[in-house]
Amino acid sequence: MTIKSVSSLPPNALLTKTCEPASRAGANLVVKRSAEFRMVKHAVLEVGSNVTIQDYSFFQLTMPEPKVFIGNNTVIGRRNIITAKNRISIGNDVLIGSDVQIIDHGHGMRRDVPIRLQKAEIGFVEIGDDVWIGAGAKILMNVTIGTGAVIGANSVVTADIPEYAIAVGSPAKVVKYRI
Ligand SMILES: CC(C)(COP(=O)(O)OP(=O)(O)OC[C@H]1O[C@@H](n2cnc3c(N)ncnc32)[C@H](O)[C@@H]1OP(=O)(O)O)[C@@H](O)C(=O)NCCC(=O)NCCS
Repeated sequence: MTIKSVSSLPPNALLTKTCEPASRAGANLVVKRSAEFRMVKHAVLEVGSNVTIQDYSFFQLTMPEPKVFIGNNTVIGRRNIITAKNRISIGNDVLIGSDVQIIDHGHGMRRDVPIRLQKAEIGFVEIGDDVWIGAGAKILMNVTIGTGAVIGANSVVTADIPEYAIAVGSPAKVVKYRI
C-alpha cells in the first residue's frame, strides 16, 4: 500500500476532523465529494489502493480506540454507514452495495439504568477478501465474514459466516456455497 497522508481525502471528502498521524491511503483512492469522515483525533483509518468510496457514505470513528482498515480494490457503496469504536476490518476485493451499515458496538441493556447511560459494548467486525455484501445489509458487532462469502440484500448478519458461504435473511443463515 502506498502510504500518504489522509489529507489526500479532501477536497473530495468532508473531513470533519483530520487524524493525520494515524491514517493512510493508497494510490487511486476515489472518495465521492459527499462522503463524510467524522473521526476523533487518534482514530486510525487505513485505506488500500484502488478503493472507491461512493456518495453519501459516512464513516464515524469514535471513542475509545477506533480503527478502520479497508484493503485494496474494495468498493464501499452509496450511503454506507461505518461506525467504529474499536475495529472494523474490510479485506481486499470486497464489494459493498448501497445502504449497508457496519457497526462494531452496541449498548448495555440492563433494565435498572437507562440504556443511554450504560457503557457501550464494544467489539469488532472482520470482513475477509472477495466478499460481496448486498444492498441494505447490516453487519453487527463480533462478526467475522469469511473470505469469498456473499451476504444477501437486506440481511442482518449477527454471527460468523463461513468462507464462500452465501447467507441471506435476518438473522443471516447460510443457504448455499459459491461453486
Ligand atoms: C444472495 C444472492 C446473491 C443470492 O442469489 P442466488 O444465488 O440467485 O440465490 P437464489 O435466488 O437461488 O436464492 C436462494 C434462496 O435464498 C433466498 N434469498 C435470496 N436472497 C435473499 C435475500 N436477500 N433475503 C432473503 N432471502 C433471500 C431465496 O428466496 C431462495 O430461497 P428458497 O431456496 O427458499 O427459494 C441474491 O439473492 C442477493 O441478495 N443479491 C444481492 C443483490 C444486491 O444487493 N445488489 C446490489 C449490487 S452490489
